[in-house]
Amino acid sequence: MRIGTDDEAADKPLLAALRGQPVWPPPLWLMRQAGRYLPEYRAVRARVPDFIALCTTPELAAEVTLQPIRRYRFDAAILFSDILMLPWALGHGLAFREGEGPVLPPLRTAAEVERLDPERARGAIAPILETVRRVRDGLAAEGFARTALIGFAGAPFTVACYMVEGGGSKEFAATRTMAYTRPDLFAALMARLTDATIAYLTAQVEAGAETVMLFDSWAGVLSPQLFRRHAIAPARRIVAALRASFPRLPVIGFPRLAGTMLGEYAAGTGVDGVGVDTATELGQARRLVGAQVALQGNIDPLALLAGGAALADAADDALAAARAGRFVVNLGHGILPPTPPEHVAALVARVRAAA
Ligand code: CP3
Repeated sequence: MRIGTDDEAADKPLLAALRGQPVWPPPLWLMRQAGRYLPEYRAVRARVPDFIALCTTPELAAEVTLQPIRRYRFDAAILFSDILMLPWALGHGLAFREGEGPVLPPLRTAAEVERLDPERARGAIAPILETVRRVRDGLAAEGFARTALIGFAGAPFTVACYMVEGGGSKEFAATRTMAYTRPDLFAALMARLTDATIAYLTAQVEAGAETVMLFDSWAGVLSPQLFRRHAIAPARRIVAALRASFPRLPVIGFPRLAGTMLGEYAAGTGVDGVGVDTATELGQARRLVGAQVALQGNIDPLALLAGGAALADAADDALAAARAGRFVVNLGHGILPPTPPEHVAALVARVRAAA
């Protein structure tokens, strides 16, 4: 194989699968593959005062991005950061409290939307882009020539959920109420987040991300009408803008718990791959999105935690789906902190040994 730029070299397995080339065994990476289940992550995390400091210290963020690649040789490294670093960069407050998750000032007014500052974001994301460059260099220097680097952002709706609610929630009722009762205010927030997401992902690709993923973790709380307006339409705009700058860039969308809206999402946004959550059957996901879109998922994080036969069965379901079409093996949601690292090793071994 000749050495050259990405376009000259053979595609890495993840990029090949997203572009519709046959790949066997299927590429594999896991959401939240860098994190608290790894002792080496906890050791780095202990060196900084808080999670935001970890995300904004390129040397450490790059280190924790590479940790799971060294252990498991995943087909993708995903930038270590958080979806809430974009509102943080735009000047909205953010803190991560131990055991409590993210805390933000609840957004209520047009003035608060107007204060979100794209100029400020351009400067504030500099350390995150430096992490991207360091990870690309690190993957090459450590011999992980087949591992692709994934950049990411939260989808505007999911980011808006945390901003309006002021943190996590079960139903994000305040956010959906704002979408119904103050549609102009909510549209202004969504428009500003969509523009900022385009700039942010563009900068990540310029810094070395080879594919990007849009996490819409709370898309499933939306009615079909609001799903079209606030999940599909902004993702379509983001995908189109990225395609205009980078025609070969594969884009993955993850509208979690979209259910039967998954097909409309895939067709309406133009993504190359869709993340499938644990609640959706892979055969149905395939029928909904058609043959031209890669599926990524959807092993239950609790099956990974359980290990043994539960994990083997879940892995075999994913492998069966991979034999039937474009596929990337992953979880249906992120790795849970108490997951034994040996269970991850067992999953990797089973997928890599698949005939
Ligand atoms: O390894 C990776 O997947 C890359 C890094 C990554 C993180 N968060 C690191 C993180 C990614 C891609 C995310 C995405 C993210 N963040 C999502 C979308 C995916 C999903 O899980 O639905 C969401 C909704 C968030 C928001 C968020 N960040 C919450 C709700 C929390 C607190 C809950 C928790 O798990 O602690 C975080 C914190 C966070 N983000 C941690 C990590 C490793 C834990 C913080 C720590 O180590 O102290």
